[in-house]
Amino acid sequence: MRLDKYLASAGKGTRRTVKEYIKKGQVTVNEQIVRDDSYQVDETNDIVTLFSEVVDYQKFYYILLNKPEGYVSATTDKIYPPVTDLVSEYDFANIVPVGRLDVDTTGVLLLTNDGQLNHRLLAPKFHVDKTYYIETDFPIDKKMITAFKEGIILDGEKTLPGDLEIIDEKKAYLTIHQGKFHQVKRMFQYFSLKVLTLDRVKFAFLTYEGLNRGEYRLLNKEEIRELKKLAKQEE
Ligand code: URA
Repeated sequence: MRLDKYLASAGKGTRRTVKEYIKKGQVTVNEQIVRDDSYQVDETNDIVTLFSEVVDYQKFYYILLNKPEGYVSATTDKIYPPVTDLVSEYDFANIVPVGRLDVDTTGVLLLTNDGQLNHRLLAPKFHVDKTYYIETDFPIDKKMITAFKEGIILDGEKTLPGDLEIIDEKKAYLTIHQGKFHQVKRMFQYFSLKVLTLDRVKFAFLTYEGLNRGEYRLLNKEEIRELKKLAKQEE
């Protein structure tokens, strides 16, 4: 990885500021001053210092994005821009979205390059709750509360218990633990309702509070620890 990227990804400043540090001779690699910002660092073996202090290299990144409409949950696509375009400053880390939100779905979307955690967060056996805010074209029937609790048949299988909270006649929250293709839309379609608005307001304990659509932030240590605990992943 380029030296300037290495420093920026370790939180030592923007690409522009770290380039300055490099130019001024404030950075060493294996005890030698390096003034070339494109110098290729071996992340596992090289020892990099800035202002004479060793720089810790960060391997995994965990990003919480408030996904806007019009972006596809992928890293490339032929039609729509991918969500990774919104977090392009982390391109170097090869982050990918954790599961999928449809192009027209908004809200909490995690992105990470921690493949093991990504996989586990999606596994139904770990029961990570996902809560959606929904608006429909016609009134939501109260009988759907029981039906979703008991499970309905999608793809020839019963869905895991879901918790439907009706807000008013055409608005509700639904919490589910699975992520089948178009699951929420199809659960409502089962009752002949079209989902007009779908916003994921919560993924596990994470919300997009404080983030406008299209904005993102890194998870803090406590949040990462908590997610790993949920996914029963060792630190
Ligand atoms: N269920 C859906 O139908 N779409 C989503 O984007 C997420 C859950």
